[in-house]
Amino acid sequence: MRLEGKVAVVTGGARGIGKEVAGRFADEGARVLVADRDEPAGRAVVEEMTVRGRPAHFAAVDVTVPADVERCAGEAMARFGRIDVLINNAGITADAWAAKMTTEQWDRVIAVNLTGAFNCIRAVLPAMFSQGSGSIINASSVVGVYGNIGQANYAATKAGIIGMTRALARELGPRGIRVNAVAPGFIATDMTAKVPEKVLDLMRARTPLGRLGVPADVAAAYVFLASDEAAYVTGQVLGVDGGLVI
Ligand code: NAI
Repeated sequence: MRLEGKVAVVTGGARGIGKEVAGRFADEGARVLVADRDEPAGRAVVEEMTVRGRPAHFAAVDVTVPADVERCAGEAMARFGRIDVLINNAGITADAWAAKMTTEQWDRVIAVNLTGAFNCIRAVLPAMFSQGSGSIINASSVVGVYGNIGQANYAATKAGIIGMTRALARELGPRGIRVNAVAPGFIATDMTAKVPEKVLDLMRARTPLGRLGVPADVAAAYVFLASDEAAYVTGQVLGVDGGLVI
């Protein structure tokens, strides 16, 4: 098992990619804390893992609220005694043409996708500093690299994630902490269920591998970056997009 003995905090672990990551990490031997604002769905994920004999815990967290996030890190320490991996996966969209985008739509997406990720990193650092090791993996997107119509707010956060990842890889490397990002293409989840079928067909046609991604495709990249196989990998943005943007 590739994550044996590690403790991982997965934000947005109640659904979609995060849910898949939580399950896959548990199967690879990690003890997992699922952190999500959707309590019923998050508890169901943990229940499923517990039934399979995997140690897991749920924490109700809104990543935009620093006090929530601090409490969550405290729960991980109390429950499992260490934090080896942070998967900063919680994210939202609130799409609109720029001329019509409200300040509330702009602020909400920045608060969850970018400030939320920073809140979580700051909260796990004391544990990682005292261990002298850690792996932080942030959810970016192809949209953060190449942009997308109607997603100025979302693209700004996902590009911001890349900048933050590289800054922190430099800052935290000397403390034994690796910081990387994953940039998925179009992955079939609740988030992309809102995208019109016509647009998804276009994406399939533009993707060399000829299909949308599935959460398992992305979870495999997270496993690699979290594992000791990636011991010399930091500051990278790993595209998981079927070749969409080459
Ligand atoms: P999803 O919408 O299926 O799941 C997102 C999860 O995050 C949900 O469980 C939700 O409750 C949780 N969440 C949202 N706001 C939160 C908050 N303030 N505090 C705590 N939890 C919160 O999304 P999906 O598709 O699984 O995406 C996961 C991540 O991957 C996001 O960061 C997204 O931007 C990114 N991504 C997704 C792509 C896709 O095509 N689905 C493509 C590229 C990146």
